[in-house]
Amino acid sequence: MTLPSHEVADLGLAGAGVRRVAWAERSMPVLRSVRERFAQQRPLDGLRVAACLHVTAETANLLRVLRAGGAQVWLAASNPLSTQDDTAAALVTEYGVAVHAWAGMDTAAYDRNLVTVLEARPHLLLDDGCDLVNTAHADRPELLEGVLGGCEQTTTGVIRLRRMSAEGELRLPMVAVNDTRTKRMFDNRYGTGQSTVDGILRATNTLLAGRTVVVAGFGYCGRGLAERFRGMGSNVVVTEVDPVKALDAVMQGYTVATMDTAAAAGDVFVTATGNRDVIRREHLAVMRDGAILANSGHFDLEIDLNALDSLSVAVDRGVREQADEYVFADGRRLLLLSEGRLVNLGAAEGHPAAVMDMSFAVQALTTEWLAREHGALAPGVVDVPEETDNEVARLELASLGVGIDVLTPGQEDYLNSWRP
Ligand SMILES: NC(=O)c1ccc[n+]([C@@H]2O[C@H](COP(=O)([O-])OP(=O)(O)OC[C@H]3O[C@@H](n4cnc5c(N)ncnc54)[C@H](O)[C@@H]3O)[C@@H](O)[C@H]2O)c1
Repeated sequence: MTLPSHEVADLGLAGAGVRRVAWAERSMPVLRSVRERFAQQRPLDGLRVAACLHVTAETANLLRVLRAGGAQVWLAASNPLSTQDDTAAALVTEYGVAVHAWAGMDTAAYDRNLVTVLEARPHLLLDDGCDLVNTAHADRPELLEGVLGGCEQTTTGVIRLRRMSAEGELRLPMVAVNDTRTKRMFDNRYGTGQSTVDGILRATNTLLAGRTVVVAGFGYCGRGLAERFRGMGSNVVVTEVDPVKALDAVMQGYTVATMDTAAAAGDVFVTATGNRDVIRREHLAVMRDGAILANSGHFDLEIDLNALDSLSVAVDRGVREQADEYVFADGRRLLLLSEGRLVNLGAAEGHPAAVMDMSFAVQALTTEWLAREHGALAPGVVDVPEETDNEVARLELASLGVGIDVLTPGQEDYLNSWRP
């Protein structure tokens, strides 16, 4: 068999990758049912798809669905640290995906791989964080010729797309997969919550019970984080800029404080805001000896890494795997996990497959919808059809053996009428 184009760490890891992908697939019943239908109907026949996604076993299962549907697929990573090298190898040798990604690539390689997958002249783009769309628009606009549209997987990517659209720069219809209920309510919340705790524990094996954990941002991800840390017995302090979300955190029983106050109190800090400079020099300067710093927001901007560098007299890189220790002049040490990048993907394996089953089922069904409907869509940020969201939830409930009520005709009439 001729292998697709690839640049991965080691094709010899493919066997381990296949096992990893198969293990994830066991918890992805919805995606499996979509794959079986795609294999029969081939809704993506003849289409080229370029994806910029975390190269994990769950992503591999999404790409298997697209392949079953008839698409040719190219894959770059959506973060320099998040690639599972065995999964990348399996994608190339077993599943016919052209992968250009390996763990620990530098930023130049990261950028180059984005261009490589765009040079395949894709019809559809699957993005996670908007780097692929951004690269095409900013650096290689000629490669947008022939692109019909795409999907965006995460909050930060949707925010960037809306900004491009508002400035009249976005030349494609981009579907905000992130904004579906089945994505945000489960993936961002339970997925990020659990896998972030997992990443912090793998990197540090620290005790969470009785410790003060500061969670920056109380959005979908932050809420999940706060719940998981509370479940581990931590005292959770929430920081926010949105008064309603801050109030929600208060009503849920969390301590809410400014970062100025929380900085000196925290044992562990986790950012999940999608914003920059949330933990700044003045905060780092007052932190306790041994404090742990982690980020679960999309980019490595939430903790001011330049400030951390400049406050330090020494850095012990790799004091543990995925952990660097910064030593201040007065002897205090702060531990930075996964270089301030997504800790749940850098130090753990990302979200559990059972959660990605829903997000990626939405991706697969939206890709099919885009392939069919792109002609009717104008450039801009487009919502996933509500029916897709409901369909994925229905399939998930069915796989769990859970039944729910349906509206009676009388109830439908009642809800659709204003008359007493
Ligand atoms: N780690 C992962 O696997 C993963 C998964 C999903 C989303 N994400 C990323 O996580 C980030 C958050 O996503 P979300 O869906 O929770 O977004 P969201 O919009 O629901 O929540 C973000 C929250 O942060 C708050 N915030 C903004 N600036 C702040 C500041 N300076 N201090 C404190 N709070 C601040 C906002 O008010 C908001 O409530 C995004 O970058 C998203 O792309 C990561």
